[in-house]
Amino acid sequence: MAAISLKDVVKRYGTGPKVNQVIHGVNAEVADGEFIVIVGPSGCGKSTLLRMVAGLEEISGGTISIGGRVVNDLEPAERDIAMVFQNYALYPHMTVFDNMAYGLKIAKLSKDEIKTRVDKAAKILELGHLLARKPRELSGGQRQRVAMGRAIVRQPQVFLFDEPLSNLDAKLRAQTRLEIQKLHRELGITSLFVTHDQVEAMTLAQRMIVMNGGVMEQFGTPEEVYHRPASTFVASFIGSPPMNLLKHAPGVRAGTLLGIRPEHLDIVEAGTPGAWAATVDTVELLGAERLIYCHLGEDALIVRAEEGLHAPQPDAILHVRPRGERLHTFDAATGKRI
Ligand SMILES: Nc1ncnc2c1ncn2[C@@H]1O[C@H](COP(=O)(O)OP(=O)(O)O)[C@@H](O)[C@H]1O
Ligand SMILES: [Mg+2]
Repeated sequence: MAAISLKDVVKRYGTGPKVNQVIHGVNAEVADGEFIVIVGPSGCGKSTLLRMVAGLEEISGGTISIGGRVVNDLEPAERDIAMVFQNYALYPHMTVFDNMAYGLKIAKLSKDEIKTRVDKAAKILELGHLLARKPRELSGGQRQRVAMGRAIVRQPQVFLFDEPLSNLDAKLRAQTRLEIQKLHRELGITSLFVTHDQVEAMTLAQRMIVMNGGVMEQFGTPEEVYHRPASTFVASFIGSPPMNLLKHAPGVRAGTLLGIRPEHLDIVEAGTPGAWAATVDTVELLGAERLIYCHLGEDALIVRAEEGLHAPQPDAILHVRPRGERLHTFDAATGKRI
């Protein structure tokens, strides 16, 4: 196991006038054994960052260390990492056992050692009864577990995951998330896990790096990122529906935005001190709760309410009071938290 250190990490593609900088100086210290999620929209540089840690992309500037050793110029094989991709590409003609054993055979481990490691990984991943099968005889979730098994048997210092769950359906994704958490509890291997899915990030991360356009917007626990977003980007990206950002609400100062999450607005009686009178546009029933889409002057406002409360009709006036301790303010020009 190993800590990972990123110092002023930069990535540029191309040279001269055609240069395209895609990572703009990322700094992050990951502790030994931590599970870190790198989250952000498509194209923000998540895979590039991960591939630089893996050694699959050159580093244009800065330093990456694994276990206290600078790895900038080391080949992937010398970095003691194992990677799991979205497209896990098992060898179709090999059994599950051979798929997991393949890398170890190449590394010339003894037959006994290989069997011990594969059996142990198969036990952790509950693949023991499937070892003689070919990939085509497995479900999508089982194949993904074999891909993880292939990484586990290497006993690396670091696991790198690049959107490994994106090809699975919603139910299987949720189940595999739990398995990955269990795996991390059992093995405690330092992990970087890339996803564009904020729910996946919130549920898996011990700490998360939120990326936007090659810039690290925030690095914190899910609680910190959710409850104290560093910017309007983080406030909108994490949480569904996103945080309301109001320009014109009562009491908003010029040059600032007022943020309030949909669940931090209480529906109150008309005339309640501090209440806002919003106009209802549409209402969505999501089972246990209702999302009430309103506007407050020119600002859009979403209110999350319990399903049991009566459903307001479009054009009705809804009186809502923000919970004062849940209000956030952001600089309107920079988007940074104030
Ligand atoms: N080989 C490459 N050459 C030039 N640009 C690239 C290359 N690979 C990725 N990029 C660009 O780098 C940016 C980040 O890509 P990527 O790391 O794949 O994003 P993500 O994984 O967050 O979706 C994108 O704008 C992408 O077009
Ligand atoms: Mg990617």
